[in-house]
Amino acid sequence: MTGKIIGTGSYLPELIWDNHKLTEWLDTSDEWIRERTGIGQRHISKELGACGMALEAAKKAMEDAGKAGFKAEDLGAIFVCSVTPDICVPPIACEIQKELGAVNAFCYDINAACSGFVFAYNMAVSYMESGLIKTALIIGSEQLSRIVDWNDRGSSILFGDGAGAVVVTASEEKGAAVMHSDGASGEALQCTTGGKLSMDGQKVFRFALRRVPEVIEELLDKLKMEKGQVDLFLLHQANMRIIEAVIKRLGLDSNKVPTNIERMGNTSSASLPILIDELNRAGELMPGMKMIMAGFGAGLTWGAGYITI
Ligand code: COA
Repeated sequence: MTGKIIGTGSYLPELIWDNHKLTEWLDTSDEWIRERTGIGQRHISKELGACGMALEAAKKAMEDAGKAGFKAEDLGAIFVCSVTPDICVPPIACEIQKELGAVNAFCYDINAACSGFVFAYNMAVSYMESGLIKTALIIGSEQLSRIVDWNDRGSSILFGDGAGAVVVTASEEKGAAVMHSDGASGEALQCTTGGKLSMDGQKVFRFALRRVPEVIEELLDKLKMEKGQVDLFLLHQANMRIIEAVIKRLGLDSNKVPTNIERMGNTSSASLPILIDELNRAGELMPGMKMIMAGFGAGLTWGAGYITI
């Protein structure tokens, strides 16, 4: 069994900070940031927190799923992934349930950092396999600007705010999931409650370059699929250099690896659902498409999942 997308939505704050804006207080340049990361700008949320942004994205995803007659009462579960929740109790997912009227869903929040969306998706599919649910709403929502240390030029340049949501339903097609964690390397990217994010950029970079190709190969093995049979590889949007290195290492066709990092920066658990929503709204997701998602980030955590449309 695997998951099939039936609705997508996203929310991006109107305020945009391009790289030039950051040079107002950081010793950096547009050229340096673009060359090392591929990032040109990021959205910044001054008004909505993770809960408010999640709700906006969720409403759009439900509206999209509603075109096929899907209703909020049909949702079996709601999962919200965030490392920047603005409320801890009740779970943001329960707030979303209340606002949507998804009375039959069970709901909770997940923190698996930038791997959150992939982990939540894989978890939702295993609930589908167990017969517990048929359909789930999975949301990634992040106000990273709140925890970024804006005086640290080595990390602040990377991150942005936003939310993405995907409604996924069970499909009989064969699926597979891969998820890994390495808590012993957690100091590479960390943030205490109320504190600011700190990162060993080179360590995270090396980790991603090794683990992302590895986890995609592992998933392909489990699926018994060749790379050429996959229509799209959806990679967590962390850094263009990481994405390019993965393309090269796996010998992928870069046309099959869409990116939006230039406009978004790294939005952690929101990056994949925002990308999926952009592709959907641009008419680039065709029925029957086979897609592999790969996420990686703090924890350290990394994983891959198979999704169709
Ligand atoms: N502008 C200008 N110079 C900068 C800078 C910036 N924003 N940030 C760092 N530098 C400087 C450093 O101070 C250093 O200067 P020095 O040689 O005089 O000491 C030099 O650039 C090289 O720094 P380094 O940290 O080695 O750069 P890098 O090539 O590793 O690039 C990252 C830094 C953060 C872009 C890169 O390590 C990276 O992308 N890592 C992965 C991070 C990531 O994706 N995290 C999220 C995962 S989910």
